[in-house]
Amino acid sequence: MSAQIFLASTNAGKRAEFAALLATHGLELGAKIEYPDVEENAVDYLGNARLKAEALHRELRRRGIPAVVIADDSGIEVDALAGAPGVRSARYGGIELSWSQRRALMLDDLAAVPDALRTARFQCVLVGIDEAGNEYRGLGETRGRIARGERGDGGFGYDPLFVPEGERRTYAEMSAEEKSETSHRARALHALIAAMRR
Ligand code: IMP
Repeated sequence: MSAQIFLASTNAGKRAEFAALLATHGLELGAKIEYPDVEENAVDYLGNARLKAEALHRELRRRGIPAVVIADDSGIEVDALAGAPGVRSARYGGIELSWSQRRALMLDDLAAVPDALRTARFQCVLVGIDEAGNEYRGLGETRGRIARGERGDGGFGYDPLFVPEGERRTYAEMSAEEKSETSHRARALHALIAAMRR
């Protein structure tokens, strides 16, 4: 596997996490490459991750850059919401909502749910495509619960609401290194790299 890996994402939070995670595996995150927009309309994380990975792989081929690409699709599944928002996590409540509005909506939707039933999990599916066009996968899951209010100002997305199992702090109250010790993304990347190096 080449040392430089291109990520099919413009999400600054994800890119920062991947750069740090890849470095722990001795790999480097390649520059952000613009590629034609893909509509993330697959029914599951794997389908969406594959759409993004294939689009970036095609673009790099077009530019004559042989490289490994990875794409992640992830989401949060809340038991009291019957597993929602899941694959629609980035669009929960509508695309027009700001992230603080989206988190406020989740807190509102869970207002009547007692602590014991506020269980949730982050899921991450990674698709990697190597220089030869072979596809690999890595899956990661982290269980936890949804806090009663927003806490912390680190991370991104649902981090201020999510308390991983065995912790009292939300991901947004932790350093990036601490989050990576249990994060769904770190676990998925670990699995993907193991599959690609096998
Ligand atoms: P994607 O970019 O289509 O994969 O959207 C996934 C969405 O899930 C993100 O926009 C976030 O809302 C949420 N999400 C995934 N991973 C995390 C995380 O590590 N922290 C907080 N929110 C996350």
